[in-house]
Amino acid sequence: MKAAIYHEAGGPDVFRYVDVADPVPADDELLIRVEAISIEGGDLAGRRDLMPGQDEVPGYAAAGEILHIGKDVDGFVVGQKVTTFHWKGSHAELRAVPARNCFAVPDGLDIGIASTIPVGPGTAAWALHLAKLQPGQTVLVLGAAGGVGLATVQLAAKLGAHVIGTGTRPESLDRVREYGLGHGIVVGQKTASEQIRALLGGNEVDVIIDTIGGDALIDALKVLKDGGNAVLIGVFGGRHTMIDGGSLLAHRHTIIGCLLGPEMGDEIPRRLITELFEMAKKGDLKIPIDASFPLSDAAGAHRRAEERGRIGRVIMKP
Ligand SMILES: NC(=O)c1ccc[n+]([C@@H]2O[C@H](COP(=O)([O-])OP(=O)(O)OC[C@H]3O[C@@H](n4cnc5c(N)ncnc54)[C@H](OP(=O)(O)O)[C@@H]3O)[C@@H](O)[C@H]2O)c1
Repeated sequence: MKAAIYHEAGGPDVFRYVDVADPVPADDELLIRVEAISIEGGDLAGRRDLMPGQDEVPGYAAAGEILHIGKDVDGFVVGQKVTTFHWKGSHAELRAVPARNCFAVPDGLDIGIASTIPVGPGTAAWALHLAKLQPGQTVLVLGAAGGVGLATVQLAAKLGAHVIGTGTRPESLDRVREYGLGHGIVVGQKTASEQIRALLGGNEVDVIIDTIGGDALIDALKVLKDGGNAVLIGVFGGRHTMIDGGSLLAHRHTIIGCLLGPEMGDEIPRRLITELFEMAKKGDLKIPIDASFPLSDAAGAHRRAEERGRIGRVIMKP
């Protein structure tokens, strides 16, 4: 089969489009013919860090048609369309993937959109569940214009929460308003916490969903209510963060680390993700596709996915 792989860490140009051996599915896996690949933040980080490894096919999220079902797998049929997640193997024509990370795609849902659902929107739904956000509460979404952020904004707004979101560009945040964002906070000259205090007249937010991390989290904690939950999803703003322990205990804040991948097949995340497919089919969850590239141009696709000021997912098709 054809695959887009790299032998060294680096920028998008490390990709080579080559012939590799077809994957052989294990007893608990499905083999799929890939039809759409969603490029996730983890794919970009993996390429920079040479993960999963030199000779392996990289990539997290892909949707396609089932060709073969491992003998230990129930609940799927050959020919069915599924979306899949794994730590490697999406950037190829064929993929063997654990069945616990596979989700049936409802008839009528575009396969490209389906490929994006488990990781971005799935993480948004899981993070809001962990945060215990309630209708009528105020949630602050750090990185509201990103793939995870945009889904978080929509799901929180549908729940009946007041949604405040941060971003680096006013024009991007203006577009996120169409998805349920109540107030956009452009980070830059003034800190987000200063702007939020002015906006809320001194009141504070009930929940933080943080796709940025680092200084953005430290600043946001200044406007989290006593007893509030902050869910940390991403750390591209900095892995090593100085938390003020005194402030944390004085305000009884909880910071929750969220990594969906290992838990995706568990009962509650699976139910939440399955609901997202139905929402997307009905148009209750909107997932804009920014651009589609052929798999043979994985470098172009990753380059586009790394551009700032973009809204919507970049996908590839074999
Ligand atoms: N924990 C998990 O299970 C999990 C799952 C999925 C993703 N993630 C991680 O979550 C992070 C976000 O993923 P994604 O797919 O949503 O990324 P994305 O689509 O690339 O979006 C990132 C967004 O952050 C914005 N941004 C950058 N710096 C900012 C800042 N200082 N303040 C506010 N906004 C800022 C960008 O806006 P501009 O482009 O306008 O600058 C962009 O809209 C990544 O680190 C990813 O690896 C984690």
